[in-house]
Amino acid sequence: MKDPLQRRKFISKLSAGMAASVLTPSAVVHPFNINSSGRKLALKGGKAIFPSTKIGIDWPYVDDKVVDSVVETTKSRIWSRIQSRDGKVPTFEKVFADLIGAKHSVGTGSGTQALSTAVLALGIGPGDEVITSPYSDFGTISSILTARALPVLADLDPQSFQLNPDEVEKKINKNTKAIMPVHISGLPADMGRIMDLARKHNLNVIEDACQAHLASYQGQPLGLIGDLGCFSFQASKAIACGEGGAVVGNDEALMDECYTVQNRGSSRQGKNETIGPKYRMNEFEGAVLMGQISGARERFEKRDQNANFLNQHLKEINGLTPQKQYKGTENGGYYRYALSYEEDNFDGVSRTAFLKAVNAEGVPFSSYIRNGFHREPWVDHILGLKGYQTMFSKERLEKYKADMKMPNCDIVTDKTHISLWGSGLLLGSQEEMQGIVDAVTKVYENRDQLKDL
Ligand SMILES: Cc1ncc(COP(=O)(O)O)c(C=O)c1O
Repeated sequence: MKDPLQRRKFISKLSAGMAASVLTPSAVVHPFNINSSGRKLALKGGKAIFPSTKIGIDWPYVDDKVVDSVVETTKSRIWSRIQSRDGKVPTFEKVFADLIGAKHSVGTGSGTQALSTAVLALGIGPGDEVITSPYSDFGTISSILTARALPVLADLDPQSFQLNPDEVEKKINKNTKAIMPVHISGLPADMGRIMDLARKHNLNVIEDACQAHLASYQGQPLGLIGDLGCFSFQASKAIACGEGGAVVGNDEALMDECYTVQNRGSSRQGKNETIGPKYRMNEFEGAVLMGQISGARERFEKRDQNANFLNQHLKEINGLTPQKQYKGTENGGYYRYALSYEEDNFDGVSRTAFLKAVNAEGVPFSSYIRNGFHREPWVDHILGLKGYQTMFSKERLEKYKADMKMPNCDIVTDKTHISLWGSGLLLGSQEEMQGIVDAVTKVYENRDQLKDL
């Protein structure tokens, strides 16, 4: 622990928590071994804190409402959104917009398609550049590449795993059209500074809020701070239908353009107006979403509460620092619950050894993204394409490749980031959250057993 007084306070709080839990009926049968796991690490043959149980609830979320909604759609024979204005997809678009606090929302077949819709609706295409993070799902830059624009990566703030606005500013040039911040883990990127940059250089902002359902920053919902915000409903997400997505925004004309783009160029009035892929969300996806949307706010609040509990306790352990939150952060979507691991402050125990030890205790922390985008082969692929060679000068492409150095992202992927899936796990009970804290504390206190790993 960082200081002995804090540590004593922490331990007395733990004991008080355990004593209180004995009074509750659910605490009589512990699903896990909070206090009886002994000091021998499970990795070394000791008793694990969570011997066999999963933490939290199974994900994606299913209940009778979800099943009934899908059955209803099946029987209705309304399977495509264009068959009815009151079908599941158009209804979900209204309900989701209300939930987020947006004036408009347009459903798509995935988060990647939502981002692609936003890029195309803003008129971004060949010869244009969009600045984004190297630390995300490949869907982020896929949306820029499929428009045949150039995704320009800027390095991270290693404490927040988010785009560093200072690095963004260095990458702005006359071809730059937009910034695409990624709210990684569901926590807000440094939006105050990103919006200042966008205003100063007259750039659009597309928020990749694929992990950030219902989170907010300075009184504004994520997804509505920039020009357009994009969400994913892929199976692991906090609101999930297998594959699905949505664009949100307050500008009616721009949102109409999003509708037209994702409807393969045909407007709401049925006119074939522009170029667009067919990205329509189908009615079965809408049915799953309509079935689970009513509990989404409560689940979000529970995740936020549990993440705050973990932050409060895990920050007291030497070598662990919760994901940095920028001033103005009100709450997070917590698709992942993330921390930085500092090997030196864990007496030299490597991140790999720490992960093996906490995993053996039953807590599924992992290092998440293995490589920043700059270390993946697509870079050489696009530089070899005739289209990119025609659109950008040889000097520009050479500089582009030379600038693909992201030392802070490398530190995050190779050394410091550790996180848990949030969607189902952070819906666990108070006792389970306490079990996570106990498992990490046990590993910290017995770190000498990990020296040989
Ligand atoms: C930050 C981020 N951006 C984009 C995407 C792409 O979303 P989808 O998988 O729905 O296409 C994801 C999904 O994992 C994501 O986490």
